[in-house]
Amino acid sequence: MQLLLVNIGELATLSEGDPNKPLTGDSMHNREQLVHNHGTGIYIEEDKIIRIDDSQKLFEEYSGTNVKILDVESKAIVPGFVDSHTHLVWAGDRANEMNLRRKGYSYQDIANAGGGIQKTVDYTRSTSEEHLINKGLDICKTALKFGTTTIEGKSGYGLTTKSEINLLQAIKKIGSTSPQLILGTWLGAHDFPKNTKKSDYIESLISDQLPLVVENNLANWVDVFCEPGWYDLEQTETIIKASHELGLRSRIHVDEFVDGNGLSLAAELGCDSGDHVGFSNSESREAANKAGTLQTFLPGTPYVLGNELIYPLNECLDNNWAFGFATDYNPNCNTISLPFVGSLATHRLNLDPLAALVAVTRNPASSLNLKEEEIRGSIREGGIADLNILKSNYIDGWCQTPGISPVSKTIISGELFNH
Ligand code: NIG
Ligand code: FE
Repeated sequence: MQLLLVNIGELATLSEGDPNKPLTGDSMHNREQLVHNHGTGIYIEEDKIIRIDDSQKLFEEYSGTNVKILDVESKAIVPGFVDSHTHLVWAGDRANEMNLRRKGYSYQDIANAGGGIQKTVDYTRSTSEEHLINKGLDICKTALKFGTTTIEGKSGYGLTTKSEINLLQAIKKIGSTSPQLILGTWLGAHDFPKNTKKSDYIESLISDQLPLVVENNLANWVDVFCEPGWYDLEQTETIIKASHELGLRSRIHVDEFVDGNGLSLAAELGCDSGDHVGFSNSESREAANKAGTLQTFLPGTPYVLGNELIYPLNECLDNNWAFGFATDYNPNCNTISLPFVGSLATHRLNLDPLAALVAVTRNPASSLNLKEEEIRGSIREGGIADLNILKSNYIDGWCQTPGISPVSKTIISGELFNH
């Protein structure tokens, strides 16, 4: 399809410099470099952006031809959102945990009492593949309405070889049906299965699950829930190193509740991303930045747990440490809306909405190890046509409507979706 967008309001291209590298520090909110004022047009052919130029000029060139022309009526355009951390397939319901938290039970207490991940594992194992796929497709549809065009999806609620493989196959099938680019992560090390010796499970992760994941090309990354009470540093290192040897890349859960030096390990192992990272120390953050390990904050999780949002965003900006945000969609943090995460980042953490936008587009995309021609997260000539037409004339409107989608239309690989 050939499509010309004319009469664009503000346009956040975010394409300054190498588009496969994250933006850091002041360059995350440099409006002169990252945003065009009203009056730009975008010409798209098939899945690619071919030209970004003066709207009137493009209109005159293409009117009267076969090209479909869409007047966006001065609305702002931003890149498609990139959700680099979701637990995409699971079944069941954990809404009862809210009142347990109100009674003073922590995430760990609830897990120890049989709730949390284990409860979702029980539900998920007894759910048909068809149901899991339909539920996954449904949440991708919701993500699309909120402007998400790329999704990383984890397994992790199976915890046996058979069920982990099934979950990764379900993620593949979801990816082949839904319009978004969906990339899989193997999270067999999300927890330990009940009634199994920890060392035996780690052995089966490495000897049984991992080879099957790799042979069947079911995931790009390995993930581990590296946190006191779950996987310790040594266990995490063993699993990640074994996975690297077989060619998987890695992105891991670290320092969610305490500083366990998880981000430091992620940097040392060369992981693409260290996620949660709320409690990581400054040395780990510095090391992560040097190693190209993206610090990915997941503010939806402390939000639903009733914990304080205390991310050191200014320290990251001041030190030019790259960071991103993702939803952490899971049965506990049950949201797939990056604009909601953007609301937390701006309304609660005082981040510039432009910097927050960079943190849900170009920066997480840079952690996905995409080939040159597949790069996401910015709007540039020659790039994939993934973008959102907002309801607002201002690009800042992308994250100022908590609970309501700020997006009126989304384009994924050149295909137009009206919301
Ligand atoms: O990233 N913390 C580990 N995994 C998920 C939560 C999983 C769950 O509670 O079901 C997370 O927050
Ligand atoms: Fe998570």
